[in-house]
Amino acid sequence: MAYTFGMPVGLRSANVRLLERDRELARIEQAVAALERGHGSVLIVEGAAGIGKSALLRALCMQAAERNARTFTARASELERNFGFGIIRQLLERRIVGAGESERTELLAGAAGLAGSVLGLDGEIRDSFAALHGLYWLVANLATGGPMVLAVDDLQWADEPSLRWLIYLSHRLEGLPVLVAVTTHPPHFGHSPLLAELLAVGGVQVVSPGPLSEPSVAQLVCAGLGIAPDPAFVSACAKASEGNPFVLHELIADLAADGINPTAAYADQVAERVPAQVQRAVLARLRRLDQTAIRLAHAVAVLGEGSALRVAAALAELNVDVAAAAADVLRTAELLAEDRTLRFAYPLVRSAIYEQLAPGSRVRAHGRAARLLFREGADSERVAAQVLSCEPGGDLDAAEVLRSAAAAAMARGAPETAVTYLRRALAESPTDQLRAAVLAELGNAERIARDPAAIVHLEQAWQATIDPVARARLADQLASVLLPISSVAWQCKRPRWRTSATGILT
Ligand SMILES: Nc1ncnc2c1ncn2[C@@H]1O[C@H](COP(=O)(O)OP(=O)(O)OP(=O)(O)O)[C@@H](O)[C@H]1O
Ligand SMILES: [Mg+2]
Repeated sequence: MAYTFGMPVGLRSANVRLLERDRELARIEQAVAALERGHGSVLIVEGAAGIGKSALLRALCMQAAERNARTFTARASELERNFGFGIIRQLLERRIVGAGESERTELLAGAAGLAGSVLGLDGEIRDSFAALHGLYWLVANLATGGPMVLAVDDLQWADEPSLRWLIYLSHRLEGLPVLVAVTTHPPHFGHSPLLAELLAVGGVQVVSPGPLSEPSVAQLVCAGLGIAPDPAFVSACAKASEGNPFVLHELIADLAADGINPTAAYADQVAERVPAQVQRAVLARLRRLDQTAIRLAHAVAVLGEGSALRVAAALAELNVDVAAAAADVLRTAELLAEDRTLRFAYPLVRSAIYEQLAPGSRVRAHGRAARLLFREGADSERVAAQVLSCEPGGDLDAAEVLRSAAAAAMARGAPETAVTYLRRALAESPTDQLRAAVLAELGNAERIARDPAAIVHLEQAWQATIDPVARARLADQLASVLLPISSVAWQCKRPRWRTSATGILT
């Protein structure tokens, strides 16, 4: 069976026939049918880059929408991995912030109020647990309005606080009409361990689409090149792409651009084309475009998902109108998605373009992007993401941006994110006074994140601080970390009480 879909759901939209996905679509259908009956679950589409995960997620969202479930979508990106609760904000922020005053009050009623600050609204977060709990109740309140889907694409790049919350939610879906549907690459050492933890949650369904077989490859080659292909040519395409739909799509586009006929005589050329796989196809397609399009593509690769045209234009040193035309050229070449913001059609496209930038120029571009975004008054965490991609350079502005990004992360109940920012702020080696402040903030964030490094940093901050009030606060924080440890140590060392013959404890 083939499945046709074409609904924009905030994920990339497309009109594609999905081949060889009967089993996966049946699992999706079961999960959506259960959702309609009020039963929530977690469905994970796991597989290699380009195997067709997003396409299945879109199919799921479309099925859910057909059954009147509301879909909330988000897409993680490599560059925003440190943006604490970034995924949760993508999922929920627009819905909550855009709600009318009275509806918002209802949605944030009770414990859900604890989620307010995660979404940039009023309210204070006491600790990470309060944020998790508040967000759970916010979703529970939303779900009183009927079944809903939380769909996250490319979860392997999600920030840790969001992952932690998805795990928290996954353990508590009973009785909630909420379907959590995500796509991810298989976990590997570069990913957060929380990804594997989510995959291991009891009851989670994992769907793993496989490579396409030769008959499907033949169908796609025929559709792409407009001529029934020779079996030898099909075999060469299947071998070269390993049945990966994305690679195949790129390969066919490349063959079509060069006017290659799918005959046996050309079969050898197919194998030659693909060793560098997609990167070559993507870069070849980019090289065919004019210089303005290439410069804009480089700028978007550095800035990351959803960049504003104005900022990308400035980074590419292009006038905004020229950049707008270049963006259209990139969309026509299917390198950028058909969105209003600038995002690549596939993450692989971004990696291919980003990877081929010389390391030095990449770092310099991140530095310029950080300054540009800073001047534009962009969100401090967006600027911080750029700073984290540059080499530390004793930059006072960078340190300040990282401090305010850390403050935002702390306010959202994401102390681990704050720790990442502040460690880097420390590496910027600011002045003694600033260093003391950064150490204090870092020690406190680590204390809340229960990171043992808090002891060292709070002590260093205490030594570097002159103000007696600040020193007292630091001593208090240090004590709150040390006391539980020393009491455990004391318990361990304490001699066992024995009763003597006289009945007196010794
Ligand atoms: N079963 C299929 N049959 C035909 N085409 C497919 C199929 N699955 C995916 N495609 C097409 O292959 C391309 C890649 O699919 P998709 O973007 O879903 O992959 P992905 O696994 O999400 O990739 P990434 O890991 O890069 O996010 C798209 O053009 C999609 O329309
Ligand atoms: Mg995808």
